[in-house]
Amino acid sequence: MTDAKPIRRIAIIGTGVIGASWSSLFLAKGLQVVATDIAPNAEAALRKFVETAWPALTRLGLSPGASQSNLKFTPDVAQALDGADLVQENGPERIEFKQKLYGQLDELLPPDVIIASSSSGLTMSEIQKGAVSHPERCVIAHPFNPPHLIPLTEIVGGAKTSEATIRRAEEFYTSIGQRTVRLNKEMPGHVANRLQAALSREVYYLVAEGVVSAADVDTALSWGPGLRWGVMGSMMLNHLGGGPGGIEHFFQQFTGPMTAWWKTLGSPVLTPDVQKKLIDSVHAEAGSRTIAQLEAERDEVLLGLIELRKKAAKPS
Ligand SMILES: NC(=O)c1ccc[n+]([C@@H]2O[C@H](COP(=O)([O-])OP(=O)(O)OC[C@H]3O[C@@H](n4cnc5c(N)ncnc54)[C@H](O)[C@@H]3O)[C@@H](O)[C@H]2O)c1
Repeated sequence: MTDAKPIRRIAIIGTGVIGASWSSLFLAKGLQVVATDIAPNAEAALRKFVETAWPALTRLGLSPGASQSNLKFTPDVAQALDGADLVQENGPERIEFKQKLYGQLDELLPPDVIIASSSSGLTMSEIQKGAVSHPERCVIAHPFNPPHLIPLTEIVGGAKTSEATIRRAEEFYTSIGQRTVRLNKEMPGHVANRLQAALSREVYYLVAEGVVSAADVDTALSWGPGLRWGVMGSMMLNHLGGGPGGIEHFFQQFTGPMTAWWKTLGSPVLTPDVQKKLIDSVHAEAGSRTIAQLEAERDEVLLGLIELRKKAAKPS
């Protein structure tokens, strides 16, 4: 561990989809949360979100001291930052907005406070141009929605981020149960979203070409590779795919066919007509099930899977 002071109080900037979910997770981990947002109904919406998320977080296990009463809200950004050990920034995904905000945060915060951005698509090298005094304490800590359930945080610094900031961020997110992935260089969309984008491109292509329906492509994905990917990643599964000969044998056997398929992968253009075809196929798959019912179906199995994986990951 570094000798920096422990991270106990988090300032949340922006309490929309991601800020509300991060707040719930931090509270469940026994941390103090002070949130701020400019939207008129933000506090009520945030408290409602946390209350709704709490049963799932309780099922996954609350840390000592975890309580919804550790949540404070203020519309005043300076008040939210007062005494914070780390800032999790979840404001709108616009570079001018973030640069201006980082200028303000940089002026208000002591230099040893990390400013972590949830940004999905902007690079820290661009964002930290706004933090003139201490850009070295700014880092991307990108969650996978919803962060209170999905324990993945991608960490990547910008040109001016210090190694100490990256290390401290890795330690902090790991200490609250996140699996952290460090990117050695900046990439648009980071890693997990690029993987999703690559796969979605082929999914849309296959449905748009009429090869399969949305229902069938989803069955092929979620009952085939998806089941395995919920347990192990692609590289390790390739190692197993090679049998006793492992990854070396996998490449001997599959390099030819796999690279031949790559040449036929699609690049669909999402014209209004193509989108309509995809949308109609998704509605046929969803049938009479509402979004809320589908979310409940997803979350019930997801919680079970997360519990199982946590159990399997415990040292024996
Ligand atoms: N939605 C996702 O799936 C997802 C996943 C990972 C990361 N992210 C990233 O998280 C960030 C937030 O995305 P979101 O989906 O939660 O957006 P959102 O629109 O739901 O929330 C943004 C919030 O910021 C608030 N806000 C605007 N100006 C503000 C200010 N000056 N001070 C404080 N709050 C302010 C808005 O009122 C709003 O509540 C983005 O950078 C996005 O790239 C989003």
